[in-house]
Amino acid sequence: MSRNMHGFGAMIKKLKQSPKKIVFTEGSDPRILEAASRLLASNFLTPLLVGTQEEVEEAAEEYGYNIRGAQIIDPAKFEKIDEMVEMLCELRKSKNLQPERAREILLQGNYFGTMLVKMGYADSLLGGATYTTADTIRPALQLIKAKPGHNIVSSCFILVRPSATGENEVLAMADCAINIKPNEDELAEIAIEAAKCGQLFGIDPKVAFLSYSTLGSGAGEDVDKMHNAALKAKALNPNLPISGEMQFDAAVSPRVARTKCPDDPVAGHANVFIFPDINAGNIGYKIAQRMGNFEAYGPILLGLNSPINDLSRGCNADEVYSMAIITAALVDEELE
Ligand SMILES: CC(C)(COP(=O)(O)OP(=O)(O)OC[C@H]1O[C@@H](n2cnc3c(N)ncnc32)[C@H](O)[C@@H]1OP(=O)(O)O)[C@@H](O)C(=O)NCCC(=O)NCCS
Repeated sequence: MSRNMHGFGAMIKKLKQSPKKIVFTEGSDPRILEAASRLLASNFLTPLLVGTQEEVEEAAEEYGYNIRGAQIIDPAKFEKIDEMVEMLCELRKSKNLQPERAREILLQGNYFGTMLVKMGYADSLLGGATYTTADTIRPALQLIKAKPGHNIVSSCFILVRPSATGENEVLAMADCAINIKPNEDELAEIAIEAAKCGQLFGIDPKVAFLSYSTLGSGAGEDVDKMHNAALKAKALNPNLPISGEMQFDAAVSPRVARTKCPDDPVAGHANVFIFPDINAGNIGYKIAQRMGNFEAYGPILLGLNSPINDLSRGCNADEVYSMAIITAALVDEELE
């Protein structure tokens, strides 16, 4: 598979060559139904809608979406439920999960949907239209797990600002959604993964570890953390332009960079931003989205064995449609 998907056109082309199946854990949500009806009409991605047949069909009827061809799967009537219970107990045997409790857990769309991916009934999953991020991600962490060689699962947002010239501005920000207070090693891993993800969207990565200090201008524990994390990331990939710690203005403004750190190879031109913690990251990407006119795609989960992604509960149908395409296009995509 290509290293660079470079936007939706390439992703859709990839999916047309090799159509995938995606689970939607909230099958009767009107935004999911609208996106599913568009996907069904385009024929490159088959939606599996979790919910009862009546509930999903009634909602589709009520909101006027044609979901003919979608597979609706009711956890309470799933014919392979015994097999699923057995597999879930095996996966969670270290937590001593018993079949009776496993059967209860599997009535929840988030766990049931994740097990559909685990058992190979679907390639990918998109949830979170009504579930919180934690409730969407936790089953993936517990059951799908991190890929070999990864210490953590992390996430990034891809931010796209359309330009009048047609040359979109594309940035990556991480980790804005999963790891609450990553340590230096985790930050280094987050940076490497976010840079690889950025490449799939056409970014030529220049990675800045963000702080309130630029290369020693300020002092403190968090400054040291970001500085050391940048060094660790460089050790992981010496070929990648990585720098920090760095203030946001020095990272993005060539003029400020000339004053604060004129010889730095990243400063002034950074396009992959690593935040010290989830507070900074989550606030930061939303500022770019709400005040900087960037479209935000994500969180895209990095380092999981199968692509599972989370929606914002405030999402609209367009965002569900876009995230479904991104999620399915990540199947078989080696973020190496
Ligand atoms: C992701 C998150 C839900 C996990 O926390 P949690 O539910 O308390 O999970 P636990 O610490 O009990 O871990 C559950 C499992 O996931 C694993 N896990 C947790 N974080 C992980 C990570 N970053 N990478 C890989 N595995 C992880 C644990 O090892 C554990 O595995 P086990 O059950 O097999 O032992 C939590 O970090 C979180 O809430 N993050 C913020 C989410 C959020 O609100 N984002 C903002 C909105 S976008």
